[in-house]
Amino acid sequence: MKRGENIYLDHAAGTFLLPELRAKLAHWLDRPTANPSSIHSLGRAAAAELDLARQNIAEGLACKPSEILFTSGGTEANNLAIAGLARSQSQRGKHVITCRTEHRSVLESFQQLEQDGFRVSYLHTDAQGQIDLDELAKSISADTTLIALMWVNNETGLIHPVSEIARIAGEQGVKFHCDGVQALGHIPLQLDTIGVDSLALSGHKIGTPAGIGVLFLRSGTTLQGISFGGGQENNLRAGTQNTLGAKSFAWASEIILEKYAESQQHYESLIQHLQVRLRSIPGIQINRGQASYSSHILNCSFHHVDGEALFIRLDMAKIAVSNGSACSSGSQAPSHVLTAMGLEDTLAQASLRISLGLQTTKAEIDHFCDELGMIIYSIQRDPDGIQI
Ligand SMILES: Cc1ncc(COP(=O)(O)O)c(C=O)c1O
Repeated sequence: MKRGENIYLDHAAGTFLLPELRAKLAHWLDRPTANPSSIHSLGRAAAAELDLARQNIAEGLACKPSEILFTSGGTEANNLAIAGLARSQSQRGKHVITCRTEHRSVLESFQQLEQDGFRVSYLHTDAQGQIDLDELAKSISADTTLIALMWVNNETGLIHPVSEIARIAGEQGVKFHCDGVQALGHIPLQLDTIGVDSLALSGHKIGTPAGIGVLFLRSGTTLQGISFGGGQENNLRAGTQNTLGAKSFAWASEIILEKYAESQQHYESLIQHLQVRLRSIPGIQINRGQASYSSHILNCSFHHVDGEALFIRLDMAKIAVSNGSACSSGSQAPSHVLTAMGLEDTLAQASLRISLGLQTTKAEIDHFCDELGMIIYSIQRDPDGIQI
């Protein structure tokens, strides 16, 4: 690995196309994008391909093909599930539960529900972002209809106890939606044994081109659609389906399932190495405690470092990581996940989300840590603003 080469450590945002998909996709690119709703033979062939993709994805997730809905990605799957489940049950009650460390596509769906007269309870989290299952159980009241909590946090890698949450929700007759976008490929998702009512997934996190997602919706669950103008996807998601995207999703999920054991070893050994290397950088705080974490995401913060300067310097060094901050009006806001976990703003602002992919190498981690160490050395200031 030479100095100046690009280092991509932002795989949780979007990863490389799986190499196995290249030839498969190329084969399809010469064909017309036939509409699966068209009744001519090419349309019917597209519908059959879509069905096959649905069937293959369902096999991998241990669910029924009819429980798979195609969307444009994780955001749309979360939006559809949360709005659709809450609205379809609004006669029964208007109380819904989530927590503040969720992805924006979940939080903003809840904000929308709040504007429409729903009451939202936000569960507290501890310093690692863990929820308290007793608080969850106590928050449920007679008018509660929906709980939405993610599987793997996209900024910290923290794993929520999804089976226990599903059990609590099920016992109280409350629907449970789970954002599984960062779990796919990192946690076995066998939906015959885990009682989620709906689950959002996204293709480009596992190596498909962007623009395809899946919403698993358990049989018998009523959902109100939020898009109009077509009867596709069981009348729940209007619009021409992305057949090639759906096929890519099916291929990719099959490949990652085949490589599961091998890839877990790969991520585990890389993240251990990364942590050892990072610990030698002065003023670092690794935002990872004793809880369970996925081994593809690591979050860390730096004391006495200006987050914006850090990010610019990393970018100049051709290193792509995420700062977890929302950029608004040209200034960086600290990550809502880290602030919800109680990190002070200055520390939350000087934070990095490092995320690994199947292609990440030990040499890349070493090169990244060398560069990061040098950058921190040159920008770290003591509390009086003097360079340390
Ligand atoms: C946890 C989580 N949920 C939802 C999304 C949104 O997925 P998409 O980019 O497919 O809309 C992301 C994307 O980063 C994510 O990490």
